[in-house]
Amino acid sequence: MSAVIPLNQDQILTELAPELQAVLQQIYIFPSLDSTNTWLLEQPQACFCVCLAEEQTAGRGRRGRVWQSPNMGNIYFSLRWCFQQVPANYACLGLVVGVAVAEALAAYGLQGQMLKWPNDIYYQGQKLGGILLQTAQPLQQVVIGIGLNTGMQRDTMTHIEQAWCDLSEILQESIDRNRLIAAILQQLIPALQAFPQFNMHTFKQQWQRWDWLVDQAVRIEAGQEILQGKACGLDEQGQLQVAFADGSCRAFSSAEVSVRQVS
Ligand code: BTN
Repeated sequence: MSAVIPLNQDQILTELAPELQAVLQQIYIFPSLDSTNTWLLEQPQACFCVCLAEEQTAGRGRRGRVWQSPNMGNIYFSLRWCFQQVPANYACLGLVVGVAVAEALAAYGLQGQMLKWPNDIYYQGQKLGGILLQTAQPLQQVVIGIGLNTGMQRDTMTHIEQAWCDLSEILQESIDRNRLIAAILQQLIPALQAFPQFNMHTFKQQWQRWDWLVDQAVRIEAGQEILQGKACGLDEQGQLQVAFADGSCRAFSSAEVSVRQVS
């Protein structure tokens, strides 16, 4: 793969529609940070600012996990978004961000990406990226973190526990991260602007396009419970619905979901 193109604020802004450029206050780019999410959480004045880093020394994943963040041309992106008040459907925000990222990848030229509830970005059963939302103070502010493998090298990354993939490997070319980040902002900003008027009925139709788990046999870890069933889409609160062999159906608001191999 050819050399990594450095992150560049002007190149990101050039790709962005003028009305969306006007929304962003600042794009901060660091060679190295502990975590772009942590940094933005510590900047109370950073509403509508983006933070990017070439590497993270303490990248954070969901459920307290580490997000491996080497300096290899990956995307470590955070945006601090400030709603006027805490939105009624806050629990669905992560799903909405996931759809925005999936659509941005489509605009970039990828086909076949899927979302694994609640908001992992998958490609052919392997993790391409992840999303971490952290509420800030005051509570109507949120830091939206997105990690995407766009330059990860397989032989050097033996310590990632789950199956992963990389966009440059999939597309067989170097990734123009500035263009991809602009594509993410192009989807994400309107989605966040519209989020206070969120409508679950409309959103479910968008979600269905990207739902990787639907109709798959899944293994659910919810607290101490381990259950096996079949995923069957979102309920009205954005929870994952699972149907069980005894005919019952349950919804999970937060759970570890793995796809069970059906033999
Ligand atoms: C997951 O566990 O799937 C979520 C991963 C989120 C990683 C991104 S990288 C940019 C931002 N900064 C962090 O420390 N984490 C998020």
